[in-house]
Amino acid sequence: LWTPARIVDDAVRQIREQVGSEKVLLGLSGGVDSSVTAALLHRAIGDQLTCVFVDNGLLRLHEGDQVMDMFARNMGVKVIRADSEDLFLGRLKGVQDPEEKRKIIGNTFIEVFDEHAAEITDVNWLAQGTIYPDVIESAASKTGKAHVIKSHHNVGGLPETMKLKLVEPLRELFKDEVRRIGLELGLPYDMVYRHPFPGPGLGVRILGEVRKEYAEILRRADAIFLEELHRADLYHKTSQAFAVFLPVKSVGVVGDQRRYEYVIALRAVETIDFMTARWARLPYELLETVSNRIINEITGVSRVTYDISSKPPATIEWE
Ligand code: XMP
Repeated sequence: LWTPARIVDDAVRQIREQVGSEKVLLGLSGGVDSSVTAALLHRAIGDQLTCVFVDNGLLRLHEGDQVMDMFARNMGVKVIRADSEDLFLGRLKGVQDPEEKRKIIGNTFIEVFDEHAAEITDVNWLAQGTIYPDVIESAASKTGKAHVIKSHHNVGGLPETMKLKLVEPLRELFKDEVRRIGLELGLPYDMVYRHPFPGPGLGVRILGEVRKEYAEILRRADAIFLEELHRADLYHKTSQAFAVFLPVKSVGVVGDQRRYEYVIALRAVETIDFMTARWARLPYELLETVSNRIINEITGVSRVTYDISSKPPATIEWE
């Protein structure tokens, strides 16, 4: 009989057989796939696993600390946190083009990951959170966005400098199975059922040039939106929801003064496969609360809009 507990047992046995007493390295992003991979490997081989978590400065509010709390403090997983905000933001300075930003973020990620990986001696294995749909996807096309997306998450294949063997314990599983074994391994529901978050993170949710000031505003706006969605019990009824930073100034009035401040767009969609999507019919009351909170609590924002575009032709992300 197929149960999450059985899958975990089988996977643990297979991992032990495969890697023996050798050391394994994993790029932990905080996303579902890499998190479940980390939990599974930790159960199978404990201290033989070291994770490298690259904080690129483009994560959501408190996300870096949450990843460290969950894996390092709660579970006792060895995690090296690479705080690289300055490096990423420095390289993104003045860059407007979305694909160029993606490339910079992806390449910098690999570089930082490699650098920290090199500190671990005698490592023989690289673990990846590849799941079955990724296997099909990359077999179907070696080019195109799907590949670009996963190539970022999956560390772009083996680093040239290290000849590591690959261990991919989720390779035969679908997303819902991955989530269920995540729960089985003790990961919290809200983490296992979290909305997808793109590899380049807030880098593609700040339109045009990425600046620290913009990222800070966006992080707070996004956190308010998600907090209110959770409070209204609508987070798990939407497929993906987030805020977008628009670097344009729109007028607002404070007292008798006209003030020009930035605009935040809210995006929430319902979708099965992320190839097509319908904008989520969120209640007006919720949107009103979110808008009021963002404008009142965050200096620098004077206006909030709700994105009512479907995919196609609009994409889910704004860049
Ligand atoms: P779009 O915007 O193409 O998004 O409708 C479809 C899904 O893919 C995610 N996405 C990305 N994920 N790197 C990623 O890892 C990327 O560059 C990227 N661009 C879009 C998006 O969040 C949505 O879930």
